[in-house]
Amino acid sequence: MAVSLTVNGQQRSLDIESDTPLLWVLRDELKLKGTKFGCGAGLCGACTVHLNGQPVRSCSTPVSMAEGQKVVTIEGLAPEGRLNELQAAWVEHGVPQCGYCQSGQIMSAAHLLMVNSQPSRDDIVASLSGNLCRCGTYSRIIAAVESVVEGRQARDDKQERA
Ligand code: FES
Repeated sequence: MAVSLTVNGQQRSLDIESDTPLLWVLRDELKLKGTKFGCGAGLCGACTVHLNGQPVRSCSTPVSMAEGQKVVTIEGLAPEGRLNELQAAWVEHGVPQCGYCQSGQIMSAAHLLMVNSQPSRDDIVASLSGNLCRCGTYSRIIAAVESVVEGRQARDDKQERA
């Protein structure tokens, strides 16, 4: 099947079996290795990417579903290698331990902040509940997301006062 999709803003075309998981298209065909294979069954969240702005498990999303659609991976959050605010917060808080689940965690957090710029702690916990971390970095993940929210709030307050 001929498939065309936009990945991180770039048009990509492939000839590939329609039921190939999007994960393997990203990793093996397009060499975007930031998205990880964990369970392969849609259960752990390690493979999370955005499909038309929605978080999806790329291990269980056939590439045919991405035909003509827009995909964003962890690499797409850092165009030209400049970390976005979530990635910078991850570094600042020393979030990763083994690091394996972290791109999926960040993609879920990025979606949360796209739909809710001021999430509560409960919102953050609920939104990331489908992303598992076997190292147990959850408290640092939450702290990193909260720091981004606080930074945004501080900037908004400053602009209001200006
Ligand atoms: Fe896709 Fe676990 S690898 S959800």
